[in-house]
Amino acid sequence: MRNITFHIISYGCQMNVYDSRIIASILSENGYKETADENKADIVIMNTCSVREHAEQRAIGRIGDLQKFREKKPNFLIGVVGCMAQNLGNSIKGADFVVGPSGYRKLPEIIESIFKTKNSSSKKSNAYTLTSNTSLELYSDIFPEPVPAQVRMPASTLHPTAFVSVMRGCNNFCSYCIVPYVRGRARSRPSSDILKEIELLANKGVKEITLLGQSVNEYSYNGINFSQLLMLTDEMLKQVQHDSVPWIKFTTSHPKDMSQELIDAIRDGEKICEWIHLPIQSGSNEVLKKMGRGYTKEKYLDWIYKIRKSIPNIAITTDILVGFHGESDKNFQETLEVIKEVRFDFAYMFKYSERPRTKAYTMKPIVPEKIRIERLEKLINIQNEISYEKSSELIGTTQEVLVLGKSKKGNSLYGKTRQNKTIVFDSSSKITLPLQGDFVEVKIKELRGWTPYGKLLSKKIEPQRTQRKTS
Ligand code: 5AD
Ligand code: SF4
Repeated sequence: MRNITFHIISYGCQMNVYDSRIIASILSENGYKETADENKADIVIMNTCSVREHAEQRAIGRIGDLQKFREKKPNFLIGVVGCMAQNLGNSIKGADFVVGPSGYRKLPEIIESIFKTKNSSSKKSNAYTLTSNTSLELYSDIFPEPVPAQVRMPASTLHPTAFVSVMRGCNNFCSYCIVPYVRGRARSRPSSDILKEIELLANKGVKEITLLGQSVNEYSYNGINFSQLLMLTDEMLKQVQHDSVPWIKFTTSHPKDMSQELIDAIRDGEKICEWIHLPIQSGSNEVLKKMGRGYTKEKYLDWIYKIRKSIPNIAITTDILVGFHGESDKNFQETLEVIKEVRFDFAYMFKYSERPRTKAYTMKPIVPEKIRIERLEKLINIQNEISYEKSSELIGTTQEVLVLGKSKKGNSLYGKTRQNKTIVFDSSSKITLPLQGDFVEVKIKELRGWTPYGKLLSKKIEPQRTQRKTS
């Protein structure tokens, strides 16, 4: 086999990160070698996002930058995969292949055929394009193997944290969102396959599993709902004999599919961590209605109340969208009020970006770009203050931290807590440095920027249920 290397660049959400791992293992199994160095790669694959126009523009700019490699490497290939590939298809210029989310398993044959035609003709042909034209085809990227290829990767290449997709696509058709058009309708994966993948990852030493879905708590397969899937995962992992995966996380939950059963699962499941990502999008009922979110501000606040009542130490994070068509000053103020009331641990904040094909695309009145930017800045300032105060609450506490690696600056290490907070810490000279994948105890001393910073207290603790859950 020729020694051909590839490099994958992932944009967008965690689903893309997961898919990039699947693509890497499909190519590796077919004799291609992954490289972390873009400059050394024979093939660069960009796994793209379409959720905002800016994400597409960035990816298109990057395709332009990559052309420079063609001069030195005559066989150099650029591939565009993922949501933008599905959305824009063969209108993407500068790529050798454009493959939507339903076509990943065909990548080895596509690449092979492009190499063949490259070698046999000197003239430049158009990009090989494989996208789905019908929703039926989009549907066909259903999990074709009981256990995706990522678990066949050597243990040494696995990170201590792993994503496991439990469903694909989305049925909600929120009026601003392109996901159902590029990823297709929601389809859930058999629970037995999910459990098998998690068990195999656990056996390979993965320490944190995040169950993924665009709307994960909508999961439903053969009568098993998402709360039951979480409890089954928890039970299964407790039975694995050796030092197995201690932590289970999941994202993204939709407020309209919240249930007391899910709250109880987070409270009762020993390995299920105290973190929920629950996008609110807006604090105005008028806007929520236009967005087609399927809940009111009151209902959302009621869930927050119930979640915190059952699990007082839970971290709650969210997504917020400002400047949606028709959002008045008053509507925006309502969002600010709700943000102050809920006090999210962290929020991803966006200004609305028009996406062709979505229901909102032609809605009116349009909020001018200048006002969208102003509102976003206002929101960020308020939320940043709250996030800072939330992080400050950790000062003086001892946190259980999963070590993920060396921090970018200095000799410090960083890791994550059960509440999914990033912690940076130093080790005292008496304790040997922990390794990636170890669980340690860190005493939080201060904040550096927004990041809690602490000192290592002890190494290699057995992961345990932290100061838990019930009130
Ligand atoms: N414009 C801006 N942000 C968007 N999101 C989804 N669609 C759009 C859009 N058209 C945001 C939502 C969602 C997150 C993943 O991206 O807040 O929760
Ligand atoms: Fe972006 Fe949505 Fe695609 Fe994820 S699924 S990459 S957020 S468009």
